[in-house]
Amino acid sequence: MKRFALPAACLAALLAAGCGDKSSKDEKVLKIGFSVPSSRETRWARDLAQMRSQAEEIGVQLLTAVSENNAPQQLAQCDSLLAGGVAVLIVAPQDARAAGEIARRARKAGVKVIAYDRMILGAPVDLYVSFDNRKVGQLQARALAARAPRGNYVLLSGAPTDTNSAVLRRGALDVLEPLAARGDIKIVMDQAVKDWHPAEAQRLVAEALLQNSGDIQAVLAPNDTTAGAAIKALEQYQLAGKVPVSGQDAEAAAIRRILAGTQEATVFKDPRQQAAAAFGAAMSLAASGRVPEATFIYSGKNKIPALLLAPQGINKDNANEVLVVSGFISLRELRAKPAETAADNSAN
Ligand code: GAL
Repeated sequence: MKRFALPAACLAALLAAGCGDKSSKDEKVLKIGFSVPSSRETRWARDLAQMRSQAEEIGVQLLTAVSENNAPQQLAQCDSLLAGGVAVLIVAPQDARAAGEIARRARKAGVKVIAYDRMILGAPVDLYVSFDNRKVGQLQARALAARAPRGNYVLLSGAPTDTNSAVLRRGALDVLEPLAARGDIKIVMDQAVKDWHPAEAQRLVAEALLQNSGDIQAVLAPNDTTAGAAIKALEQYQLAGKVPVSGQDAEAAAIRRILAGTQEATVFKDPRQQAAAAFGAAMSLAASGRVPEATFIYSGKNKIPALLLAPQGINKDNANEVLVVSGFISLRELRAKPAETAADNSAN
């Protein structure tokens, strides 16, 4: 899997700080903490793998933690990472507001905090590294509108505890509201999916199908695990492959569905880019306390330095070239039977 090199400035700062010298004693090896919210979506496993390979390349110790969609558990895990002596804590929060306590405890310990992919609310962080999530929602909606320019739409958004969910939905509505205003489409359901849980997504789509006697022309699922679940609901009405469904994360299971014609599209947010950006920023913060290349976003009253990356729409026309030929998804992974991949199981 191609790796993205650290920005030169980060490497220079790192070496100047004497880190990365593999022969150095343990106490000089820089420690970075990385906390992710779940193992349900395969994208978090990819983020962990990318961060580990960045750390190995530099000779930095990476301490990781995976919570099972459990905010108190993530707080306890981050306490352990702080106790483990990390200089920078990178967190993808299970619950944006609850994670404010993680940021407060890190700041009290003199540890820099990077909000990874999802924003942390209620306390300032040193950097936010994510993709343009409004653009993600626009890409999802555009893929559906191209296939279903008229009819009844189901609009699902992600967990209300995840700041990305409202931004995704805003992006989708940028595309769908004008179509609804013209009377071309009607949004017959507009619901958040608690915890991004596939079972909840499947229940909601089944409810929309029942309420509309199967007269649904498109489903905007906020990510690939919920897309897989939505397609299971459509199968009950023999509509899988006939009603376009969007997703996000370019999971192997989703690429299988896109190539098979049951999922219309997904959105690729390259973890190699996101991990390199976060890791490089962590090096800069550890060495100089600053991240030179950041722009800014506002989170409440707080003006937060941010690195926002560009997402890419994926459909049957470019999936193979962008994801398989590039080596991001192996042919073995692509051919794996559904039971062999966690993401497929989580849709049940
Ligand atoms: C979001 C993330 C998506 C997807 C979802 C479920 O915050 O931006 O890419 O992973 O969580 O984990």
